[in-house]
Amino acid sequence: MNKLITFEGIEGSGKSTQMRLVSLTLIEQHVPLLITQEPSGTDIGRKIGGILFNRGHYYMCAETEAFLFCAARAQHVREMIMPALNQDKVVLCDRFSDATYAYQGAARGLNRDFIKIINSYSSMGLKPDLTLLFDLPVEEGLKRATERDNQLKDSSFSDRFERESLVFHNKVREGYLQIRKNEPERFRLIDATRDIDTIRNEVYRHIAEFIGLKT
Ligand SMILES: Nc1ncnc2c1ncn2[C@@H]1O[C@H](COP(=O)(O)OP(=O)(O)O)[C@@H](O)[C@H]1O
Ligand SMILES: [Mg+2]
Repeated sequence: MNKLITFEGIEGSGKSTQMRLVSLTLIEQHVPLLITQEPSGTDIGRKIGGILFNRGHYYMCAETEAFLFCAARAQHVREMIMPALNQDKVVLCDRFSDATYAYQGAARGLNRDFIKIINSYSSMGLKPDLTLLFDLPVEEGLKRATERDNQLKDSSFSDRFERESLVFHNKVREGYLQIRKNEPERFRLIDATRDIDTIRNEVYRHIAEFIGLKT
């Protein structure tokens, strides 16, 4: 059975933080892992990400955005994810196909059937086996993301998505919650307003249970 575990949620919801923490614990337990992210999980994807996140590209149309994310995913699935799953590795992926529904579908308004088709081709029909959805109010997520960016880069740094409006980010959040409603068995909803350690324990518990580790 494939073990593709995805981390989803709005900007600043703690996906990368929690993926790093749970990876450390899983590595200690000698779980064979691929730790990766979209769109930058491959060299080609990183270059595509450069086009996608560049805030000078504020005029990029939604279709271009969707195709570019799917182009990065096509490469990522074939170059990294499928080979890892074929070696029985657990794959932890920071964002995947649900993000295309939430961002380019729910928030940008692209047709769901169109997204279904490009998602399906780009991912070779691969669907996540377990998805952790980090949920919190967008104001809090964006505040955290801004603080993170200020620490990492110069204080004026923020990418094309972080510069979108609260209305946009609320549509993303609602989009994710809607997908979860349609597929409740695949999702674990994580209340991301809590402290890092509490969330870390819950994330570990969900993943350990899913891959059959003792907790
Ligand atoms: N539970 C939490 N409480 C407070 N701050 C958090 C929490 N989780 C993460 N952070 C901080 O918020 C910022 C955004 O977290 P990050 O993991 O980068 O989010 P994402 O990958 O979802 O955009 C980081 O600076 C991180 O240290
Ligand atoms: Mg992140």
